Amino acid sequence: MPILRTENIQKHFGGVKAVDGVSIKLIPGKITGIIGPNGSGKSTFINLLTGMFPFDSGTVYIGEHTSLTHIHPYDLPDFGISRTFQDIRLFEQMPVLDNILVVITSRHVIGSLFERHKKYHLDIAEKVLKHVGLWEKRNSLAHDLSYGQRKLLEIARILALNEDGDGALHTVLFDEPFAGLFPEMIKIVSETLSLLRTQGKTVVLVEHNMDIIRELSDHVIVLDSGKVIAEGTPAEALSQPNVIEAYLGK
Ligand SMILES: Nc1ncnc2c1ncn2[C@@H]1O[C@H](COP(=O)(O)OP(=O)(O)OP(=O)(O)O)[C@@H](O)[C@H]1O
Ligand SMILES: [Mg+2]
Repeated sequence: MPILRTENIQKHFGGVKAVDGVSIKLIPGKITGIIGPNGSGKSTFINLLTGMFPFDSGTVYIGEHTSLTHIHPYDLPDFGISRTFQDIRLFEQMPVLDNILVVITSRHVIGSLFERHKKYHLDIAEKVLKHVGLWEKRNSLAHDLSYGQRKLLEIARILALNEDGDGALHTVLFDEPFAGLFPEMIKIVSETLSLLRTQGKTVVLVEHNMDIIRELSDHVIVLDSGKVIAEGTPAEALSQPNVIEAYLGK
């Protein structure tokens, strides 16, 4: 299982040090919670790890042999990494079913539209859409789903990648997957994260709800102003005075 590790990565937006020298190592097969106040750099950190924009300096290591100073989103499938977005990113004008099929049938979105979908792929799509309760909505446009359903479609997309035997998904990063969900939806997402862990995948969970962090995380990293200010088990990290101070103010 390749270990994902960062060394001193930095990203500044003008005068804002969004990520300011973060060095961490994800624990393979475990759920690492990343917490921190609003604007502490959590999403930026995930974005850097997934090539949404280049980092200014530092290195990302994937396993022993890959060290990267640039990451392109299109390289992620080769690295076995996938993610969800805080602001939800779907193929809005495509049906729910196609939103699943495009990620498992082809790396090239346009190409997949013309491909004849094999029963194998359709079976995966049916399985994951039923899992998140969206099978009945398979012909609706992603754009027409409710907020919670859209978040679940992103979860289904991860599950589809995970089901696809051709892929070798080993690390999944979730940026606030629970935000704004009803309790029954929270259960589906929570079970999905636990399932990935059971399968030995490495999971990153960015989350504000401390009950969820305590329940699901094996390890917690706390960011404040772009820096790691604490790390440890949920109990250890959440009880540190500087963490409490970061949330409550001095
Ligand atoms: N694309 C961008 N351009 C300019 N500034 C940005 C950009 N993305 C993030 N920032 C700034 O970087 C800092 C960190 O933002 P980030 O979104 O990473 O925080 P966060 O911890 O995910 O917050 P939240 O909990 O609200 O999601 C903030 O000051 C934010 O305004
Ligand atoms: Mg964020």
